[in-house]
Amino acid sequence: MPDVRDAWLSVCRWKCDFACARPRRSPPSSPSFEQVLEEALTRRDFLRWALGATLVLAAPAWLEGVAHAAPVGFTPVRLSREDRVTVPGGYVAQVLVRWGDPLFPDAPPFEPGRLRPEAQALQFGYNCDFVAFLPLPAGTPQAGAGLLWVNHEYTDPRRMFGHDPEGQPTRENVDTELAAHGGSVVEVRRGADGSWSVLRSAPFNRRVTGETLCLITGPAAGHEWLRTREDPTGTRVRGTLNNCAGGKTLWGTVLTCEENFHAYFANAGSLAPDDPRTRVHARYGIPRGASPRRWEIHHKRFDVSQEPNEPFRFGWVVEVDPSDPTSVPRKRTALGRFRHEGATVVVSRDGQVVVYSGDDDRFEYVYKFVSRERYRPGDRSQNLTLLDEGTLFVARFHPDGTGAWLPLVFGSGPLTPENGFHSQAEVLLNTRGAADSLGPTKMDRPEDIEANPVTGAVYVVCTNNTQRTPEQVDAANPRPRNRHGHVLEIFEEGGDHAATQFRWRVFLLCGDPREADTDFAGFPKDWVSPISCPDNVAFDQAGNLWIATDGQAATLGYNDALYVTPVFGPERGRVRQFLSGPVGCEVCGPEFSPDGRTLFCAIQHPTGRWPDGGLPPKPSVVAVRHRAGRVVGT
Ligand code: FEO
Ligand code: CA
Ligand code: CA
Repeated sequence: MPDVRDAWLSVCRWKCDFACARPRRSPPSSPSFEQVLEEALTRRDFLRWALGATLVLAAPAWLEGVAHAAPVGFTPVRLSREDRVTVPGGYVAQVLVRWGDPLFPDAPPFEPGRLRPEAQALQFGYNCDFVAFLPLPAGTPQAGAGLLWVNHEYTDPRRMFGHDPEGQPTRENVDTELAAHGGSVVEVRRGADGSWSVLRSAPFNRRVTGETLCLITGPAAGHEWLRTREDPTGTRVRGTLNNCAGGKTLWGTVLTCEENFHAYFANAGSLAPDDPRTRVHARYGIPRGASPRRWEIHHKRFDVSQEPNEPFRFGWVVEVDPSDPTSVPRKRTALGRFRHEGATVVVSRDGQVVVYSGDDDRFEYVYKFVSRERYRPGDRSQNLTLLDEGTLFVARFHPDGTGAWLPLVFGSGPLTPENGFHSQAEVLLNTRGAADSLGPTKMDRPEDIEANPVTGAVYVVCTNNTQRTPEQVDAANPRPRNRHGHVLEIFEEGGDHAATQFRWRVFLLCGDPREADTDFAGFPKDWVSPISCPDNVAFDQAGNLWIATDGQAATLGYNDALYVTPVFGPERGRVRQFLSGPVGCEVCGPEFSPDGRTLFCAIQHPTGRWPDGGLPPKPSVVAVRHRAGRVVGT
């Protein structure tokens, strides 16, 4: 078995450049841990308020609770160190598409040890993360055919090429890595036996890579900080990088999120200290010297001393239309620039489109975007412009269980020229800096955010933050040295996702249930599965929350996994493990087919011999189904 610590360090090195090992800014001191935990867990007026709020948006199930508890029925699997995907009895986990699988009729077969950029650009990319299922024909509730959009977050040159090229990667290695980033569109179909297959000759199949032309749209497009020698217009970028999680729009496109983009760039220290870009690059963690990957040796655009604006062209939410293989992905600047984990789309009471997104770094913030115009069913061309105009907000969680969304609008509050902001474009290009001045709550690495389709409540996943000291705890981040992470529950005022006020409370304090500082929404801890480092989440049609993890090997000592818990009814908080991933992986996705009978999830950075029993291990998407065709989890 590979050494777990070694495997984990490899993930830290290539995924986020050891972001967790770096010192972070300190939030102001707060009440004691015991105080805030007590307040967060026992807020007496919350239930009364939540019941009132959900009257407008929830099914009666929430009010009746017990009678309408969402059914979850399987024998939980146990934490595992086995190098395989484990699912409950009666279920089968099929490997659907692997790193290197040819996606086109003319794509060459995967040849380990002989990776080439031209081949990789025609094959499934590396380190699959977000998975979106889009039914075919588009817009229908079909469950048996569809397009999968899959993110390819980052590359690990040591595992890809069998040696460590740090210091002097070859041009071919770098170009192969660029081709292994981005995303894939693959058409998939379900056979009569319930198994899925990839249609290699499907006209929709596509690779988006670190070299694919993307347009920059919205308020920041064309700003001088987005202009480069290659693109004097500030509107055309080569590629998208570090695409972590994402979201699906109501009009059939996907949002793919650029997360740890900073680690691809080098030499921010070459800019003059009084250059305003120096401060912004520092706030985003652009390395002052060499990059961890050394891509700058072969591609000057990654060298800030050569191209000081290229980092501004990354860190965005990118909209892709999988139904049109010739469409140009668009970086939507109105949604802000930060280390976007995901982007979850919902509709407000008035029809505005709302996008929730977390900035996944220690002591960073939770955001939402509210479109100016309304979603119009059937008017695709109009809907494709919705993410270019609107208001970006950042969240402040008050200790009394209320909260506020603070607008990031040029000219309002401190976002003025006297404070260094000269336009809405600058507010967006330096979203982190603009948010700092509004005093939002510094979170324990906000990852995925999802809205419950049954109750409308919004769930914010904070994966962990071991750097929070006892003096730094606050009500929404109530544990110091938070190794295991937690999940918050938000109820927007009036049940309206466009509201600027909300109520919130802690839903889960993850960890080994035997530990005193864990909490599972008050559910008896003898009946829950251990869970740590929650990351990507999804809801099934019944409103149960599915939680994938990233980091359990370092905390619980077991492989990452997938869990499900009801969020209302008598089993609220009863976390049950549904799947264990193989050695070294994190579990990503998860995504259901429209009929709920298939669960897709991505197995990222496996380090053993999964899935084929040989080397190299291959990040892959699996399709999980019940042998009798049941809805997954029931
Ligand atoms: Fe790429 Fe925040 O996980
Ligand atoms: Ca993630
Ligand atoms: Ca993660």
